[in-house]
Amino acid sequence: MRTPFVAGNWKMHKTVEEARLLVSEMLDGLQAVAGVEKVLCPPFTGLLPVAAMLAGTDIGLGAQNMHWEEEGAFTGEVSPRMVAEFAQFVILGHSERRAYFGETDETVNKKVHAAFKHNLTPIVCVGETLEEREAGQTEAVIRRQVEGGLAGLTSEQVASLVLAYEPVWAIGTGKAATPEEANRVVKDVIRGTLAALFGEETAQAVRVLYGGSVKPHNAAEFFAQPDIDGALVGGASLKADQFVAIAQAAADTAG
Ligand code: 13P
Repeated sequence: MRTPFVAGNWKMHKTVEEARLLVSEMLDGLQAVAGVEKVLCPPFTGLLPVAAMLAGTDIGLGAQNMHWEEEGAFTGEVSPRMVAEFAQFVILGHSERRAYFGETDETVNKKVHAAFKHNLTPIVCVGETLEEREAGQTEAVIRRQVEGGLAGLTSEQVASLVLAYEPVWAIGTGKAATPEEANRVVKDVIRGTLAALFGEETAQAVRVLYGGSVKPHNAAEFFAQPDIDGALVGGASLKADQFVAIAQAAADTAG
């Protein structure tokens, strides 16, 4: 059995003061949700204050990115050692990083290895753009991202990480994939690729999330799908009541 997993990707939102307010609004409600792994991913500047508020709770903390080197002359970057001071998770390869900041399967792979070295659990994002989908390339793109991003890992490492299927055209657009279609991609393409590379047992052990316009009104339909184990939530994670409702839906309906 895979424990349901719901993470909030705050993206580039919330000052320290705003972050504290948001966490205070959701803390009790989120802690009351049982049987679901819950993770908040504020921007780097929010890691320290949010870590302090989450200490002693069952809510995890994640960063949204990091460099792969431990330290050095990389102006503007944050290292895995620095992230690991506060967080247990790190989102890697988000489509916004691939699209706007030149992230490639190769850099994602270096970061995934660095995460394991520092006891961080990577949340590795994959997904096709609208152009790729319309050109019939969805499967090839996702297969390449899974294969490239996870290259060189052991089966044990793969089994312990989290993958997120985020069709790029569904992110921040209000146009979610249909739950059935998302499940098909997760089952056939993501778990299928994992099985070919790391074995069926590993493919069945990995938690795979759906991301892209997940809201309280549609979350349960995704969680009811047998191969979808939770959600990576953007916009709705910035509203305390909505994020708590989505986590609760995962507790109630995880398939
Ligand atoms: P939205 O939920 O705002 O569509 O964002 C999804 C996402 O990119 C989470 O990482």
